[in-house]
Amino acid sequence: MRLTEQAYAKVNLWLSVGDKRPDGYHDVETVMHTVSLCDTVALEISEGNGISLAVTGDGSVPCDARNLAWRACETFLRHSGRTARVRIEIDKRIPAGGGLAGGSSDAAAVLRALNRAFDSPYTPQQLMELAAELGSDVSFCVLGGTALCRGRGEVVTALEDPKPLHLLLAFSGEHVSTPDAYRLLDADGGEERGGATLMGCLGALQEGSMAGLEGHMYNRFEKSILPTCPAANAYRNALAKAGGVSRMSGSGSTVFAIFESEERALEAQKLLDFEVTYAISVKSYFKK
Ligand code: C5P
Repeated sequence: MRLTEQAYAKVNLWLSVGDKRPDGYHDVETVMHTVSLCDTVALEISEGNGISLAVTGDGSVPCDARNLAWRACETFLRHSGRTARVRIEIDKRIPAGGGLAGGSSDAAAVLRALNRAFDSPYTPQQLMELAAELGSDVSFCVLGGTALCRGRGEVVTALEDPKPLHLLLAFSGEHVSTPDAYRLLDADGGEERGGATLMGCLGALQEGSMAGLEGHMYNRFEKSILPTCPAANAYRNALAKAGGVSRMSGSGSTVFAIFESEERALEAQKLLDFEVTYAISVKSYFKK
């Protein structure tokens, strides 16, 4: 049996971070938003035992148990008590280590595909609980669409789909390790929201207000990460100059900008002298 799943990237429209918890994680409050840039994940399932993984499109991604997609497969089979030989094939387009949850999204796609293959032993909610064992972003990536995520990221509340956003994404190749980003943040002297609020961000999203998004989109990691990623910082400024509402995604260093329309985004794309990817909002995997 062969199944294919799209694994979409996410951007963070809001991301605030609280204190470090006794378990080493930080409480976060974040609005995650799925966008059309995606990897393709195919699963070949047959009788027998064992996992194998092949990755095309990015030679830097590991093809063994270090890959979260592999661990997602292991976790699903162990937890559900199923036995199978599973070959995972991932065609990567989402840059790895860029703050777009590419690895988490691939893992989530494996969980959705296996759940389909075995006639849905898990509800979406149960699949998201299983996903939380793998990483803080994986539960959201199982669901997709737009959601408010709390706890360490795994407490996911689905939000109404906003009017589709038109985005440009730019990755400078400056990789950021997530644990390092949290360590830098702990030492950077605290947040500076400049008047941005979560409620303001949610309101602007609902109204599709560019001015509202400009005032209220916020990413706590920008303060400590952008000074260490000069190319990403320059891209962020250039995207804003080209007319977009521009921010960094997650712990970086990918930056993105939201434009009023597809035309505006594509006009801006022509003006920029670095590679940008056009993307549009994507709804939840479970609502289509
Ligand atoms: O959950 P995930 O494996 O993606 O997290 C990687 C690392 O990032 C954690 O080990 C932790 O150091 C940091 N982290 C954090 N607070 C979060 C999420 C991640 O401190 N909410």
